[in-house]
Amino acid sequence: MKTILSLSPAAQLETECLVAVVLDCSEKDRAEKDNSAKDKPEPYVSADKAVQQAAADLLSSGDITGKTFELAWLHKPAGLKAKRLLLIGGGKSKNFSSSDLRKLAGAAVRALKPRTVRSLAFILPAEIPADEAVKAVVEGAIVGNFDPDTYKSDRKDQNVESLTVVATGDQSKLQSALDEARILAESQNFTRDLVNEPSNHMTPTILAERAQQMSKETGLKCEVYGPDKIKELKMGAFWGVAQGSDEPPALIVMRYEPVGAPEKPVLGLVGKGVTFDTGGISIKPADNMEKMKYDMAGGATMIGAMRAIALLKPKIKVIGIVCATENMPSGKAQKPGDIQTAMSGKTIEIINTDAEGRLVLADGLCYARQLGCTHLIDAATLTGAVVVALGYYNAGIFSNDDAFYENFTKALAKSGEKMWRLPVTEEYLDQTRSSIADLMNTGGRWGGASTAAAFLKEFAEDTPWLHLDIAGTAWMEDQKPWIAKGPSGVAVRSLVEFARNFGSS
Ligand code: BES
Ligand code: MN
Ligand code: ZN
Repeated sequence: MKTILSLSPAAQLETECLVAVVLDCSEKDRAEKDNSAKDKPEPYVSADKAVQQAAADLLSSGDITGKTFELAWLHKPAGLKAKRLLLIGGGKSKNFSSSDLRKLAGAAVRALKPRTVRSLAFILPAEIPADEAVKAVVEGAIVGNFDPDTYKSDRKDQNVESLTVVATGDQSKLQSALDEARILAESQNFTRDLVNEPSNHMTPTILAERAQQMSKETGLKCEVYGPDKIKELKMGAFWGVAQGSDEPPALIVMRYEPVGAPEKPVLGLVGKGVTFDTGGISIKPADNMEKMKYDMAGGATMIGAMRAIALLKPKIKVIGIVCATENMPSGKAQKPGDIQTAMSGKTIEIINTDAEGRLVLADGLCYARQLGCTHLIDAATLTGAVVVALGYYNAGIFSNDDAFYENFTKALAKSGEKMWRLPVTEEYLDQTRSSIADLMNTGGRWGGASTAAAFLKEFAEDTPWLHLDIAGTAWMEDQKPWIAKGPSGVAVRSLVEFARNFGSS
């Protein structure tokens, strides 16, 4: 999708569809403003006078009240050069945030997609500072424009082709907000494309090729290692999972090392890249097993984040590591009761071969430390338990370092992504101690997201570390007005926002 910034008055814009936001002025706000209008809803269009006039009848008719995602159309709006005016409800004006605006832009694009409209112009509402608003609209629109329809043979290309953002303010500041937003959202969609691929089209080898291709295009260094190097590095936990598959595993290392960056910190982004999780010998039930093609979402997240980092060029070193493998049952597969020695030297008793994510990440985290990472973030579709705890709305965050976590929440505020901190205290580690090895790869029935995190913490050791369990959030179970059903690309924008400000904090 092309993105254009326009500082001209909305009335002058020739576009197929002008989009403006309608907000509901809350009871209390109105009472302060005007006592007479108390019991009528008072929606207003957050745009310039010309647009307000064009929309006046539509508003007074009550066809649109400002409720979130409500839509109302007008053809040949009086006084405007646009062919259509689309009003979209944004909810109460009082709490209206850039996170709401991002969703509205997505919803507007998704409303237009099935119609014939291929270009739109979005008027920024005055409630949000203009640079923030440009960013929200561009991100929302690009994310909204994505549909996971690559394998539909009757696929019609129904994407919106161009978005004009109608703003007032400092042109160069707004233009850079727009460019940044495009990189962030396109990287999120890049991740969604990878996650959407089924496992026969997304083997560890193919995932590695996609990372290499992206690295070539963006100027990252990318190395890919196979079974020999994985064994040479003594990654016994990673190899234990990989040994059961006919598809060779891939250890993907992407390096962003800009000239002039300080020696430290070095941020390590480690992703779980299980391209299909059958459960292994502890095989999963058939129902919903097809979903396990998205078990590489954590790895795809890190590849997408590295893409955006390479293009936005923050002055900080970042290393992305993806441990890519299938988890298969076979005559070569590891079995419950087996003991594996991880790269760090710790021994692990395999209780359940379906708890494979923590095994591949254990060696990924250890390797990141060996490469000199001073701070670690991992992302993984790690546990069903986090879905039980937080549902589809929040990713789980775990950390061994409060300051590092607090710092990350600033990035969440910028991205609008929802994550909720869960505990990873000593007690959970006790649940994973083995009587015959150092650790077990499961921690019993209760607190499964925290016991998995406690296991990982043993491999982050004393390095500040964050773990994002995205099992419930990496795949949208239903479509929403602003986003398609399917891969969500969650965490890409948060990770990049974090990396961009990390050096300076
Ligand atoms: N990939 C799964 C976790 C998962 C579940 C991701 C649902 C997405 C949706 C992971 O490898 C797994 O199988 N975890 C087990 C761990 C258990 C055996 C301790 C689980 O959560 O059941
Ligand atoms: Mn599993
Ligand atoms: Zn898994």
